[in-house]
Amino acid sequence: MAVEERLQIKAGSEEYPLIIGTGLLARTGKILKEVGLGGKILVVTNPTVAALYLAVVEKALQDAGFTVSTVLIPDGEAYKCQSELVRVYDAAVASRLERDSVVLALGGGVIGDLAGFAAATYLRGIRLVQVPTTLLAQVDSSIGGKVAVNHREGKNLIGAFYQPAVVISDLAVLATLDRREFKTGLAEIIKVGLIGDRELDHFLRRERAAVWRLQTTALVEIIRRACSFKARIVNADVREEGCRALLNYGHTIGHALEAETGYTMYRHGEAVAIGMVGAAALSVDLGLAHSDLYRATLELIQAYDLPTAIPGLSAAKLVARMALDKKVKNSEVRFILTPAVGEALIKEGIPPERIYPVLYRLGAV
Ligand SMILES: NC(=O)c1ccc[n+]([C@@H]2O[C@H](COP(=O)([O-])OP(=O)(O)OC[C@H]3O[C@@H](n4cnc5c(N)ncnc54)[C@H](O)[C@@H]3O)[C@@H](O)[C@H]2O)c1
Ligand SMILES: [Zn+2]
Repeated sequence: MAVEERLQIKAGSEEYPLIIGTGLLARTGKILKEVGLGGKILVVTNPTVAALYLAVVEKALQDAGFTVSTVLIPDGEAYKCQSELVRVYDAAVASRLERDSVVLALGGGVIGDLAGFAAATYLRGIRLVQVPTTLLAQVDSSIGGKVAVNHREGKNLIGAFYQPAVVISDLAVLATLDRREFKTGLAEIIKVGLIGDRELDHFLRRERAAVWRLQTTALVEIIRRACSFKARIVNADVREEGCRALLNYGHTIGHALEAETGYTMYRHGEAVAIGMVGAAALSVDLGLAHSDLYRATLELIQAYDLPTAIPGLSAAKLVARMALDKKVKNSEVRFILTPAVGEALIKEGIPPERIYPVLYRLGAV
């Protein structure tokens, strides 16, 4: 039986539907028509996702009367780059996309960010449809309107805020997702529970077995809750000038870990998982939270088989990375801390001497 839930996402003056369910890919064309789209459409995807899902999406679009063209980007973060962006523009020109044409991103966060930036800039902006196919993309990158490509000097350095016309999250695609990729998305869902949704946190603890075996109702529940929370925060701070920083819980240490290990050792969510354990420890050390908070955080992250330690990495190098993070204000280290499960606050200017003990506890040297 097909399942479908709709959320209306607001981002400042803009608004768009987010559809979560099963059997949605085969209805892509109809859904796009419903939201007023038509004409030419350029599908941006990669060979991995194309082999699994392109045919069904293409057919759905053609059946609904769209003129479909496709551009394949090689699979991997390395291809969220300027030369592949140019290939998307070339495909848009070759397909004669016009102001009312559509770019559809079919894939994970890499494809969503790249295709999104192309849509934001081609002809000064044409309509964008996100069809996220990883759990991370469904709960994080497809919502919030941040689109970007990487520069050799840093991730996401060239980007824009650009909201999609609709986001279509078909849960059935998660069945083919690598377990490690599934867990990286779960880390961001766990994050939402810890910083802002106690019911989600309870659900994740109680329904672990159902989540683990991809039971549809459990997935709908956690994805819907994670998306609603992110959407609420984004609407309150569309251009990331204030409270949107709360979404960076676990990311201060997480980003440092990813950068220090050259983006090869950890998937993003794994680095964030470790970072959340660190942030919980710091919340306790600074007297903001009871020690139960640390235990509860550790327990949940372990329950979902995500890493919680960083054996052997240099604490000094990690602290130096934190001070370089572009999201750090006035070169002081900023942490998101949790006074209790479901509550978070932004704390600026944490001195290195408070961070070292936490990193040592995580196994850094
Ligand atoms: N825009 C934002 O707000 C935001 C937020 C978080 C992350 N991001 C970006 O997202 C990117 C990471 O996204 P990701 O974790 O989705 O990685 P990804 O896009 O690289 O996808 C991970 C892997 O899964 C494969 N895949 C995708 N869907 C599949 C499916 N249904 N079945 C089988 N395999 C599938 C992909 O081909 C890839 O090999 C990073 O570039 C990051 O910067 C952006
Ligand atoms: Zn993240």
